Amino acid sequence: MLLFCSVLVAAIDFGSSDSGCAFSLRSDYESDPINTIHTESLGGNSSKTQKSPTVVLMNPDGEFAAFGKKAEQQYEELALDDEDKKWFYFTRFKMQLFTKKGLNKDMMLEDINGRKMKALDVFACCIEYIKNKVFKRAEEGVSNLQEDEVHWMITVPAIWNESARQFIIAAATKAGINPVLLSLVLEPEAAAVFCKYVAIRSSKDGKEAKLEVFESGSQFVIVDLGGGTVDITCNEVTETGQLQEIYHASGGPWGGNMINLRIWKLIRSVIGNATFDACMEESTYLKLCMLKEIEEGKMKMKSNEKATFKLPFEFSNKKIEYKGAEIIKDKIHIDPDVISKVFEYAIEQVCSHLSKVLARDETRNVKYLLLVGGYASCEILKETIKKKFNTYDIIHPCNNPEMIVLNGAVIMGHESRPIIGRLARYHYGLAVPSGLRIIPKKETTMHTEFDHEPTFLPLICKGTPIRIGKKVAQYSFIVTSEELTDIEIGILTCEDDKAPSSIAENSCNKIGQIVAKFPALIKNSKMTIIISCDETEFKVTAVIDELGHSFSARCSFLL
Ligand SMILES: Nc1ncnc2c1ncn2[C@@H]1O[C@H](COP(=O)(O)OP(=O)(O)OP(=O)(O)O)[C@@H](O)[C@H]1O
Ligand SMILES: [Mg+2]
Repeated sequence: MLLFCSVLVAAIDFGSSDSGCAFSLRSDYESDPINTIHTESLGGNSSKTQKSPTVVLMNPDGEFAAFGKKAEQQYEELALDDEDKKWFYFTRFKMQLFTKKGLNKDMMLEDINGRKMKALDVFACCIEYIKNKVFKRAEEGVSNLQEDEVHWMITVPAIWNESARQFIIAAATKAGINPVLLSLVLEPEAAAVFCKYVAIRSSKDGKEAKLEVFESGSQFVIVDLGGGTVDITCNEVTETGQLQEIYHASGGPWGGNMINLRIWKLIRSVIGNATFDACMEESTYLKLCMLKEIEEGKMKMKSNEKATFKLPFEFSNKKIEYKGAEIIKDKIHIDPDVISKVFEYAIEQVCSHLSKVLARDETRNVKYLLLVGGYASCEILKETIKKKFNTYDIIHPCNNPEMIVLNGAVIMGHESRPIIGRLARYHYGLAVPSGLRIIPKKETTMHTEFDHEPTFLPLICKGTPIRIGKKVAQYSFIVTSEELTDIEIGILTCEDDKAPSSIAENSCNKIGQIVAKFPALIKNSKMTIIISCDETEFKVTAVIDELGHSFSARCSFLL
């Protein structure tokens, strides 16, 4: 992803739970890739982690007020003074991009009190804050640093679809980052690249390291255990030391936040849903305290031990009838067998998915599982994975697993091509509008008329390599309508193992469109479209053969 002009690479890990940013100079990187990465603190750090909570506070006019810990503190003060309701307070909102179907630029986000603001504005103002902070800090070290000398890397979960990725690009652009100087990085890939570097560096220093993981031919699985998502990628180290995916990225919304949510639900049902909700609705301050208590209490939990949480004073000594829980003074004590069920369910989601991935033919030679992301520090999760996957070598690459993705993203910005190929997670295909007729390739027996037959025109088959920077498909069409200027070709995906034959099949999902504007095309003129893939997006070039003109068209995934 090396950009010719960049003096500095800056990465933003915009996490579902916590965010971080880091940068390094090209000149420093060449002498020491790892120790020259600077981490910049965002809105006050907690002592435990170098990332900050992904929390943003906006004033009643909808303008940025604070980010991270500072936002948390300021909002707590507002809540104590009962002034919180006019402000906007967004926490852990990144996951909404994953769950939302038909994501568009006008999508709204709900804050803690249900107040709404445009998601694009919320993301953009967070990115702008982080960008300015990093740039200012970098400027202190590099005199006369220009904005166009910085290559920005923003991390995204590998399992995000094209719409969510394009949404982040739009937000970053709004935040003042030139899209030409921006690359999106897939989170588990960044983690894989960082782990590889740590191992290489360790070998030079002669320190102990699990180097065989990164020997040519070795296959390993990275499990990025974040706050929102669990992202799984399977890689093989090639002869050149680059990484090649052997099975497409997968995962789901089973990150650490799921535990918080389940503890919240458990306490709610112990206290009584209506009583609990009334208290939380009445006082934002108490709600914030409860959320914090759950997050902090969760970190200390060990299997077979009681869990204890401080409750709002309203619930002190409350009489309850719940088997396995009791309230003494202002604390709730939950028995190990009850609290372990909370963890069991969430962890089971991760383990059952991981088992399916490891049962695939493609992954049969995998020997190593690398656990990264903040949730990888969870003792109960670690123990379960070790027990369930005891035939694998389970590796925790460093003491700060939540920093691995961020550091890896910086390294990826300096490397020309650390990942040489990834595999398509779906079948990708085109839906051709009426007014165009495909000219069949000699070797195919494909249907040629699209006016009546809505064929799924294949772009990339599920599980096949996506060669970055290479052409993925080329199709030629004859214009069959009188006059055509705006052409919209739908982009579809299908998750089934077998490619669909018709776009009408239920499993087909429209994820975007290629939009091309031409000077009026005359009937019977011939047009060719060439589609290639860059790091994260499709690129389209359309050529009108008679005129020899070529147009670049846009793939839009924000429907
Ligand atoms: N010791 C611990 N026990 C349990 N959970 C933990 C522990 N340490 C961190 N976590 C959890 O890890 C998550 C944060 O990890 P990380 O910073 O990797 O997530 P993120 O990058 O914000 O999320 P995502 O990658 O999904 O966008 C939080 O849910 C946090 O509660
Ligand atoms: Mg993460």
